[in-house]
Order: sequence, then structure tokens, then C-alpha cells
Amino acid sequence: MQRIETTSSLRAQVKAWRKNNKTVAFVPTMGSLHKGHLSLVNKAKELADHVVVSIFVNPLQFDDKADLTAYPRTIDSDIQKLTSIDCDTVFTPSVNVMYPHGMVTHTNVTVPNMDDKLCGLKRPGHFDGVGTVVIKFFNIVQPDLAVFGEKDYQQLFLIKKMVTDLNLAIDIVGSPTFRERNGLAMSSRNQHLSDDEYDRAAEIYQTLQTSKLQLEEGKLSFSEIEKLALTHLQKLNFDPDYIDIRRADDLERAHAGDKNLRILVATGIGKTRLIDNIACNLA
Ligand code: PAF
Repeated sequence: MQRIETTSSLRAQVKAWRKNNKTVAFVPTMGSLHKGHLSLVNKAKELADHVVVSIFVNPLQFDDKADLTAYPRTIDSDIQKLTSIDCDTVFTPSVNVMYPHGMVTHTNVTVPNMDDKLCGLKRPGHFDGVGTVVIKFFNIVQPDLAVFGEKDYQQLFLIKKMVTDLNLAIDIVGSPTFRERNGLAMSSRNQHLSDDEYDRAAEIYQTLQTSKLQLEEGKLSFSEIEKLALTHLQKLNFDPDYIDIRRADDLERAHAGDKNLRILVATGIGKTRLIDNIACNLA
């Protein structure tokens, strides 16, 4: 696997592939790779001739400095993992390569109505930071397609909207959430959980599934189901930010009669904040 650290070298490599009529898939990550990330890379490998994985902890999307400092950086083991699945290229730019003139006066991409719902409420500016770095990567890599995990459903929604709104010729592929044996969605943050928290965190997925069953039964209103789920998590000593039933297509609040739904949750457990979501189609 080759490691590239500058935009000019990456552009030259992609240009050479294109000259040979090869397709390119892109998987952006912040490193600390786990099996969920590797499943995204494997999906990308199925869909294109070459795969570029970026590893970059993007300061612009951290609203909390302490969180940015504490974010795990595990470049050597990340490279080993990518090599073990035959990924061909990893792009590891420095902050200076990505933001040579700093971040304060950098042009930002804002996708509207992101900070007023779900994770945006607790993380002001986070989604602007994600949109901005992803569009920069898209312009550097110029891939045919990019793969994102469904676990970050609001992020996936934002990327799809940005690509549509700005007429980018890139297919955005969502890849299903990869889960631990107990059902917990895989996340770089899981390594912060104690053994006891890890076991208890299985309840997050269980709660989503219970809400889905209740939706399918159709006896309770959407808000009753949300309230029951929230109270359930609180009783089990979680610290939930939200558990919301949303329309899958636009992430707006779902109302009776809406069929294509997504149930999304964000909750604290101990000092760690976890997110998850599942689909629920009532059609
Ligand atoms: O999901 C992530 O790891 C990040 O938000 C992303 C898409 C790599 C942008 O920094």
C-alpha cells in the first residue's frame, strides 16, 4: 500500500489511474480504524478499480478542544489494518496541508438545518466542519464514488444533500452499520468504555429495536414511543440526548402516516457519547 501525504502527489496518482480508464473510490476516515471502517473499504474495493482512504483528524469539526486533543491517533496500526485488506492508497495529509492558511478565515460549506436537529443541537458548527473537509477531499481526490457508514446517519444525509445541491458528479454510497457481537454499533469511541459499560451499551440497539417493534404494531403514537425509549434509557443510567423518530428522506420529524422512517439515538454512557440508528419502513 502506498502512503501519500501531499495533495499534488495524490492528484498525480489519480491522474495516472484516470489515464488508464480506471475508476476511483474514496473512503474518508479520522483513523483509529476498526472493522466497521474496513467494511467500508471492502465495499469501496468491490465498486471501483482503486481505493483511496484518507486518515485526517479534522480540527474544524471539533466544537470541543479537549475532544480533539483526546481523539485517538493510531496511524501505524491503521496502516497495518489497511495493508492487511489490500487497500492500495492511504492519504494522510497534515493540518497544514489541508488548511495552509489556517481555519479562521477558511471558506466554509454550510448545509442548512443541520445545527437545529439531532447531533447538531449539541455540537454547533460540527456539521459545517464535516461538510467543508469532505468537499475539500472530494476536490483533491475527485473520486467516482465515496463510501460512508450509515451509523453516522445525519452525516450521510448531509453529504448526500451537499453533493446534490452542489451538482457534484460523485455517487455517495451508504454502508450498513457494523456491529459488535452484543449489537453495539462499532465506533472508535467504544474503546473508551469500561467492560461493564461495553456490556450495558448493548441496550442502545435493543432500545432501537423495541421502538421499531412498537412502530410496526402501530398502537402507540410516535411521541409516546420516543418518550418510552428515552425513559427506559434514563432508568438504566444512560444520559440520552435524544431518541427521535425521523423521516428517513429529509430527517424532519415524522408524523402519523409517514412510512419511511429512521429511529436515531445519541446517549452518554459514563463519559462516552455514542450514537446509533435503525431503519423502519412501515410501507
Ligand atoms: O466520519 C468521520 O470519520 C468524519 O466525520 C469524516 C467523514 C472523515 C470527516 O472528517
